[in-house]
Amino acid sequence: MEDRSAYKSVGREEDLRGISKRVAQITVSAIKQMPVLASKVPGAVSLGQGIPSFGTPAFVTDAVIRALREDERIGKYSLQPGMPELKAEIATHLHRTRGISVDPEKELFISCGSMEALAGAISALVDRGDEVIVPSPNYASHIEQILFAEGVPVFVPLLEEEGWRIDIAGMKKAVTPRTKAILICNPMNPTGAAFSSEEIRGIAELAIEQDLFVITDEAYDFLVYSPLRHTSLTAIPELKERLIAAFSFSKMYCMTGWRVGYMYAASRFIDQVLKVHDAFAICAPTVSQYAALAALRATNGHDGEGDRFIQELVAGLDARRHLACARLDRLSSLFSYQKPQGAYYVFPRIVPGSLKSMDLALRLLYEAKVISVPGNGFGPSGEGHIRFSFGGTEEEISEAFNRIENWLAGANF
Ligand SMILES: Cc1ncc(COP(=O)(O)O)c(C=O)c1O
Repeated sequence: MEDRSAYKSVGREEDLRGISKRVAQITVSAIKQMPVLASKVPGAVSLGQGIPSFGTPAFVTDAVIRALREDERIGKYSLQPGMPELKAEIATHLHRTRGISVDPEKELFISCGSMEALAGAISALVDRGDEVIVPSPNYASHIEQILFAEGVPVFVPLLEEEGWRIDIAGMKKAVTPRTKAILICNPMNPTGAAFSSEEIRGIAELAIEQDLFVITDEAYDFLVYSPLRHTSLTAIPELKERLIAAFSFSKMYCMTGWRVGYMYAASRFIDQVLKVHDAFAICAPTVSQYAALAALRATNGHDGEGDRFIQELVAGLDARRHLACARLDRLSSLFSYQKPQGAYYVFPRIVPGSLKSMDLALRLLYEAKVISVPGNGFGPSGEGHIRFSFGGTEEEISEAFNRIENWLAGANF
């Protein structure tokens, strides 16, 4: 087997002299580390990082190219909270998709991907020692963001056998006088669960009863597979004063590299998070805000180019979901899994109990040449699991599973 110590050199064995405790305690998530390791493994096929294979659509890139030629504002800072015309389009989009009335001037800001909005929100809410309730497993970067704010992530295991449902009673038991907020992502990375209206209502009721804030990461809000539909905390009016919601253009319009997203919250939060945004980013990249504006202007909820693009994207990813599940069915001696309902991840349990997630991920990488993400990067309940993304092409997914099958035929553990 090849040298596994490489994993350690990526954010693990570090020279921490002089480094703040705040930063020393956090890590680059396994989601990002695995591609770095894999870049040294020629020919590896990816079921790893969640990047859809589709390119940014032409109705976005053409508009940006035109603006680059004709509009010199595109090369300058925008207003710090974001371009007013983009915020107005977002307010229209949120009204159309969720039926909520949003004041674009006061209740939105444009961020460098949803990630920066989330980091800003957590920094604005969490003081040292404050507890934030998060489901486990959970999107790895949320955990690092809480730690970076010197908060304490309090993990409440999801109910795996029930399809990775939220344990509302478990969350209630986890509340202490230090609990500040509940953080969820819906649909969920890494489990692929899309939460039901009962779960969403349960979180809202708990937050109101216990006087907690709620942070919701809805980067995959458009990607819930039929017949289910996305249910959002944003649609609960009683929650409005305690809710912070982060959204993204990355996945819906295949714009992961443009780094543009936004936050919706009551104006008093937006005011505070904007201080953090100013200190860390000044404004979201203006060129990417033009791209986001073109994306939304092409989308009317019916028959725009943007609507057709999203419909085809969702249909394509649904086909990949079926393919990935069919291939997992053939690997039942290695994996058992809950069928994903949203996003493009599946989070199988590793059947041989002796096999740790990192060992399996490294063996798959070095022996089968397949990139995955070890479950232990997603919180304590992630151990014993592995995350596969089915954002790649059907050919890539088939090739990756062929390799895993061949590897399994000769593997011992
Ligand atoms: C749950 C979740 N939130 C946020 C992000 C990052 O989104 P963005 O590109 O908008 O920062 C990702 C990326 O994979 C994600 O899976």
